[in-house]
Amino acid sequence: MNHVVLTGDRPTGPLHLGHYFGSLANRVRLQDTYEMYVLIADYQVITDRDLPGAIQQNIDALLLDYLAVGIDPAKVTIFQHSAIPELNQLMLPFLSLISVAELGRNPTVKDEIAHSSQQVVSGLMFTYPVHQAADILFCKGTLVPVGKDQLPHVETTRLVARRFNERYGPVFPVPEAMMGEQPLLPGLGGGKMSKSRGNAIALSATEDETAALIRKAPTDSERLITFDPENRPGVASLLTLASLCLGRTQQELADEIGDGGASRLKALATEAVNEFLAPIRARRREHTVAEARKVLGEGNAAARERAIKTLDEVRAAMGF
Ligand code: TRP
Repeated sequence: MNHVVLTGDRPTGPLHLGHYFGSLANRVRLQDTYEMYVLIADYQVITDRDLPGAIQQNIDALLLDYLAVGIDPAKVTIFQHSAIPELNQLMLPFLSLISVAELGRNPTVKDEIAHSSQQVVSGLMFTYPVHQAADILFCKGTLVPVGKDQLPHVETTRLVARRFNERYGPVFPVPEAMMGEQPLLPGLGGGKMSKSRGNAIALSATEDETAALIRKAPTDSERLITFDPENRPGVASLLTLASLCLGRTQQELADEIGDGGASRLKALATEAVNEFLAPIRARRREHTVAEARKVLGEGNAAARERAIKTLDEVRAAMGF
């Protein structure tokens, strides 16, 4: 199959190891085989907060994260919402294809509303999965490498594609989600890895920052290290972190540490992460912000061309 791959990230802060194992690793692997788009979802930043914040700074950081992990702009089109009016315009017909009741059932949106610091739920928070359908369908994306939390949005996208085709004739492929094969990386101490919870290791963290974060990670005082995510979430999170970085199982690592306690475990995890991040840190140093912005400018131009073509087809199918 000749896939068109699309994924994206909100530019709200630096990417972390959870992003890497959940989605970035798949992108780097797939970029050699398929046509690929990577979206900096800048308009999606204002779903769960009032202001876009340090948006340009966050976009620069995201671009450098992409280049550092090995996303190759010669193979991948990197672009941003705010530069592609025709992508955003797709949201209008797409909104007409999804019911208010369906929007209200999206479990990821419900969870984000529950955790939001905002006083009110905006129309954008409620409808952004349809905007995400425009992200995926503007380039006729067929494969979407994402984490589990994004599956409801891919489901919305599939509904939009099917219903558009039924109503107006065949224009869109019905895309599929692709989940990472790796186990989900919990944050330090357990729970979801997230920058706002202070339990994430950024891809841009220095060796010392990494060591400090792991040193502070909550564990327990049991000397014998076992892999028991339910009862020992802190220990299990460090074992999973080391396991992903080393390509070995959590059980193997636990057996090796034996009764070395949390200090042995932390030393092992720190070394594993720092070794894993070394080539990523080295590649980051090879790039400048100016160069990264040029990459984005070129990607925006290419993505816009694609979006204009799709919007023309959509208008023609609808009889406009
Ligand atoms: N919602 C995604 C996130 O928060 C980012 C995103 C925006 C995305 N548009 C997308 C992911 C399209 C995949 C496809 O991480």
